[in-house]
Amino acid sequence: MQEKLEEVKAQAQAELAQASDEVSLQNLKAKFLGRKGVITEILKGMKDVAKEDRPKMGVMINEVKTFVEELFDQKANQIKEEKKRRSIAEEKIDATLPSRSLSVGARHPVSQVMEEIINIFEKMGFEVAEGPEIETDYYNFEALNIPKNHPARDMQDTFYISDDVVLRTHTSPVQIRVMEKEEPPIKIIAPGRVYRCDSDVSHTPMFHQIEGLLIDKDITFGDLKGVLTEFLRLIFGEGIGVRFRPSFFPFTEPSAEVDIECVICEGQGCRVCKESGWLEILGCGMVDPEVFKSVNYDPEIYSGFAFGMGIERITMLKFGINDIRLFFENDVRFLRQFV
Ligand code: PHE
Repeated sequence: MQEKLEEVKAQAQAELAQASDEVSLQNLKAKFLGRKGVITEILKGMKDVAKEDRPKMGVMINEVKTFVEELFDQKANQIKEEKKRRSIAEEKIDATLPSRSLSVGARHPVSQVMEEIINIFEKMGFEVAEGPEIETDYYNFEALNIPKNHPARDMQDTFYISDDVVLRTHTSPVQIRVMEKEEPPIKIIAPGRVYRCDSDVSHTPMFHQIEGLLIDKDITFGDLKGVLTEFLRLIFGEGIGVRFRPSFFPFTEPSAEVDIECVICEGQGCRVCKESGWLEILGCGMVDPEVFKSVNYDPEIYSGFAFGMGIERITMLKFGINDIRLFFENDVRFLRQFV
């Protein structure tokens, strides 16, 4: 039996030397140390050994078993190391390759200009107010003195959700919502999305406006002119020509439209300004006493002005963009130009 054990030792050593991967190692382990393995077979043979020799034999078998187990551990480590070394050698990392660049996002040009406009008015002491985009007929029209038969209510311009509920067609309903809640003095701007059933190179069904409202005692048209002229100089440059043209809005009286000198041809006349040298940029006026009636303000005590402008239009003029639809196509090649 002793001889047999020595043989097992030698055989294990020889066969292990041949094993070069984890699978063959596992197979050898089963062959020598497994439940049906060589060493287990030898242990089974103990029953044929004379009783007095059994303890000694037991010790010897255990020694061989430990010896073989250690051999396996060593070999397993060796194979693991070898595998690691090989994978490092095979992994060809080229540290000189340029890395993949991450594309960084940027503010949308409309958001940039919106922010710029808000900043200018905030410096003048205006506060930002907000209102819902889904609005009732009352706030969008009625309280603003837009009578039932006014063309602005035409099905062609307004998205109706029901008889009484619309997508707001302008930011002016925020005027009413603020005045209902607060007493003068009031000095707010209201930026946000508005909706009109219209679509061509200068109209999209959704666009952005900023509304302004200032109410106090003794506010005059001169204050309106001063605030808006200063604003237009800050946004388009100190030298920009500005003119106020009489106009009509149901919620302001008197009303005006404000033009700036054409930024494309500098007043010479071109296609963009339709050869007039001027560009219409916003609507404004003194708040109509009829509007004060809807919010229970006394027009004998208070007066004020309101204005509203389209952000896309201002953005187009500032950046020389000739099709409003480009803003909403989300083509990064377009958007990237305004970073
Ligand atoms: N709400 C008007 C529009 O959308 C603009 C405006 C606002 C005019 C406030 C006068 C006063 O056309």
